[in-house]
Amino acid sequence: MISMKSILIILSFYSCSLFAQPAIISHRDIFTPVVATNGMVVTASPLASKAGVEVLKKGGNAVDAAVTVGLVMAVTYPRAGNIGGGGFMLIDSVKSAGVVSIDYREKAPEKSFRDMFLDQSGNPDYRLSQFSHRSVGVPGTLAGFALALEKYGTISLAEALKPAIKLAEEGFVVSVDFFKDIQRRAKRLKSWPATQAVFFKKGGGLYQVGERFFQKDLANTLRQVAKQGISAFYQGKIADLLVKDMQANQGLMTKTDLQKYKAVLRKPIQGKYRGYDVYSMAPPSSGGIHIVQMLNMLEAYNLNELGHNSAATIHLLTEVMKRAYADRSKHLGDPDFSTVEDQWLTSKAYAKQLVTSINSEKITPSEQISPSLVPSYESDQTTHFSIVDKEGSVVSNTYTLNFSYGTGRIAKGTGILLNNEMDDFSIKPGVPNAYGLIGGALNAVEPYKRMLSSMSPTIVKKNGQPVIVTGSPGGSRIITTTLQVILNIIDHRMNLQEAVNAVRIHHQWLPDKLRIEEGLSLDTLNVLKLMGYNPVNSNTMGATASILIDYQKNLKIFHGASDPRRSGLAVGY
Ligand code: DON
Repeated sequence: MISMKSILIILSFYSCSLFAQPAIISHRDIFTPVVATNGMVVTASPLASKAGVEVLKKGGNAVDAAVTVGLVMAVTYPRAGNIGGGGFMLIDSVKSAGVVSIDYREKAPEKSFRDMFLDQSGNPDYRLSQFSHRSVGVPGTLAGFALALEKYGTISLAEALKPAIKLAEEGFVVSVDFFKDIQRRAKRLKSWPATQAVFFKKGGGLYQVGERFFQKDLANTLRQVAKQGISAFYQGKIADLLVKDMQANQGLMTKTDLQKYKAVLRKPIQGKYRGYDVYSMAPPSSGGIHIVQMLNMLEAYNLNELGHNSAATIHLLTEVMKRAYADRSKHLGDPDFSTVEDQWLTSKAYAKQLVTSINSEKITPSEQISPSLVPSYESDQTTHFSIVDKEGSVVSNTYTLNFSYGTGRIAKGTGILLNNEMDDFSIKPGVPNAYGLIGGALNAVEPYKRMLSSMSPTIVKKNGQPVIVTGSPGGSRIITTTLQVILNIIDHRMNLQEAVNAVRIHHQWLPDKLRIEEGLSLDTLNVLKLMGYNPVNSNTMGATASILIDYQKNLKIFHGASDPRRSGLAVGY
């Protein structure tokens, strides 16, 4: 016999789980290691995560924390944190009233031209596009951060710069991660005297783990920005030094280029996926369009039933990825220069049409999707961070110098590492960039144009409230990494840390290769091989910094997950 009391208990249990807050996702009842209720900062640099949380504790909002984090990372995480590069910031805050985005992607200098990276025989010169002063796009980071604070922040840029200046001036203790990364890139960093002088001791030795690492020139640069605002960088003494360095090294960037640079507000790409609203970066990023396009195609399948990383699911993901990346090569570019058909590319109708060519048991070779070339991959670095404050305002930010340490060149006297973002242009039709990505005319080099990006800062909302904040580094793999985190949470019901940790796969149409991280079961690999796949083992792909917000009655519970593929940190309070 069931007693009345137990009926009541059962009823109250069901009313909690079914009718309590529209909770986000009924993810498994296992907590991520880092859970908090007042705020959360997840970044690739532990020092930056801590600095960000300090801002929140003092009453700053998510945008204040984001800008502080971004500036600190220019000091503590020089492989990708920067003021000499650019990126994208998505904001959903009390002040923004909806999701907005800031595009602070670099621009081509005025003197750049379509064939600037071809040699005399018309072949691509990758040294020029990747490791020279001509590789440098006009930096956007400071303009983007200043705009973010001005519109959506509560503190001044000078205030946000304080922790970064302190860390550059007083130094920080070299961590294992920092040491290993400099060691790994030593050859490139030593090949440029101004860079060697910053990252190595006088005789060329490495700063050892536990020693203090100072960046006096960078501290001085940041102090000038704190005093005079970003005009110090875009017009003043810093601009003079940057341009002097350009002139001495056949670079194209001029003072006019710096003066003219503006960060811009853009409407994010928006899509719907199984009842969730997905917001991600619009062109000049390709990320938002292709994440939504792939989600639209995947909506036709019950991925949960097919199983996470089963051969059937991996096959579908692969087919969907190929179609999206094929479109990327043709239809994407800077929207200020040509029309990008984002409405069409992200429409349910177009996805439906694409899905009709997918056979769930048979591989569609890439050349049947479009003619092919076989480019190659390279290693890389960018960085993403996610932040939420006590109001539930969120920031999702990805920024980069392109490769680790960009060109590897520091502009003399500034401490600023120069980006090599010009390589993200399509330097010749059909010729791949460093990530094996092929572009068309829309992404050809043109003065003042922004080069196409894959960076995909993303915010997923449910019933008007943000529930997932995520994004990743990883070049061409950024888009598929971000997609898989979303699928792992929404379709596979994983908790955040599981979703982030799970083995990833990647296909980008060309080269026609399915890349997988280590850790897929042998059974799955065998089924894939029977289907005709020849999966290639890849190094780890992407490194997300993600937040999941679980809405309980009067409580917002913030789960933070740093990616075990890098040594970042989630800090909550
Ligand atoms: O904007 C882009 O798509 C590339 N420059 C990003 C580079 C990158 O993610 C390297 N990181 N791991």
